[in-house]
Amino acid sequence: LPLPSPAAMKPKAEGEKIVVGFAQVGTESSWRIAHTKSVLQAAEEAGIELLYENADQSQQRQIEIIRGYIERGVDVIAFSPKTEEGWEDVLKEAKAAGIPVILSDREVQVGDDTLWTAYIGSDFREEGRRAARWLTQQAEAGRSYNVVELQGTPNSAPAAGREIGFKEVIKQDDRFTVLESYAGDFTKARGKALMEEALRRHGRSIHVVYAHNDDMALGAISAIEAYGLMPGKDIMLISVDATKSALKAMSIGKLNFAVECNALLGPQLMKAVKDLAEGKELPMKIITAEGVFSQETAKKALATREY
Ligand code: AHR
Repeated sequence: LPLPSPAAMKPKAEGEKIVVGFAQVGTESSWRIAHTKSVLQAAEEAGIELLYENADQSQQRQIEIIRGYIERGVDVIAFSPKTEEGWEDVLKEAKAAGIPVILSDREVQVGDDTLWTAYIGSDFREEGRRAARWLTQQAEAGRSYNVVELQGTPNSAPAAGREIGFKEVIKQDDRFTVLESYAGDFTKARGKALMEEALRRHGRSIHVVYAHNDDMALGAISAIEAYGLMPGKDIMLISVDATKSALKAMSIGKLNFAVECNALLGPQLMKAVKDLAEGKELPMKIITAEGVFSQETAKKALATREY
């Protein structure tokens, strides 16, 4: 018989602190650093004991960290899965130990969805669609546009969703051709290196860069400048995250559009943990509300942007 879903947390004694084990994927981007800070701070504010370890982009390490939390018998495990696949075994172990698992920011693909309790994060496909919708609205009639896509970590939920959503929209518009879709890793250094390669291969025939995150877009901006072109003018750039550095780049005209991906997921995560402790059932998916930024709205938002 299948084990019951560990949707409920084991009861705590009066005054006993809830313990959450958080297995972060890495420190690849400024978004990720803001996400980590948000989780640490929200745990402190909620009076929850947080065990935190960083897997430094190794799925194997992330699995080991989760196994460590299972052995310690934490109340809840939260993690941002590096990739969508490969979690079946460790999630079965968490389920067998009766520990609910909350996915904070990235989803997993497993045959049995009772292996995880809730997902808190973005709708990545919709982010890709938002990027593409803006592009199709900006593009001139009767002109054609060559696009270079700088993707995030291969097989990660945001890279998959942002590619699918973007292509779903632009493939309906014959003004656009995707020249290259490069596999990146959400880092600025890789964004720069991939853009250098794109410029070597395609030079001035590139009209648009769609980067799966701000860090890669910022790396691409330096590559474009080093090549002697003006980012934001000679080549249009669109990215996802909308961090403060991206808004700054938009305010000086080097980045054209940013789709928001909310990194401040800590408070929602801690609320979900407390709800579990009170025996409440969580919705399987808690999707964060997000917006988009044009160069005009970015200027206004800069003063209050937290990360
Ligand atoms: O999973 C969210 C993505 O991961 C962010 O867009 C990116 O910057 C990060 O590292």
